[in-house]
Amino acid sequence: MSELPPGEVLQTSWNGEIIFIRRLTNTEIKDTVALPKTTELDKAFEMNQITPAGNSSILCCSAICTHLGCIPVPYLGAYKGWVCLCHGSVYDKFGRVRQGPAQANLPYINNSVFG
Ligand code: FES
Repeated sequence: MSELPPGEVLQTSWNGEIIFIRRLTNTEIKDTVALPKTTELDKAFEMNQITPAGNSSILCCSAICTHLGCIPVPYLGAYKGWVCLCHGSVYDKFGRVRQGPAQANLPYINNSVFG
């Protein structure tokens, strides 16, 4: 994980589940925090789901779209988070859904196990 550069996303599996690990730069965090609340479809995200790691921070979340289970593609869309190409759901860099049909964020994975 320490080899994952800031700003990059790794898709891997953990405990039989496909997950994303995203190393966010401080600028990405600042920009994502500043996004409008009005387009946040699921308000359940909490900042403690992001873990500081040196000059960057780590987000671990499920790689399964909360609509019908496809794997969203990172770096795409207006928020450069993820876009699910199956039906067009859009997630920001925190995995917060910004455009449906999905209505729930990419589920958070407790990343304390990754150090
Ligand atoms: Fe992702 Fe439908 S499965 S938008």
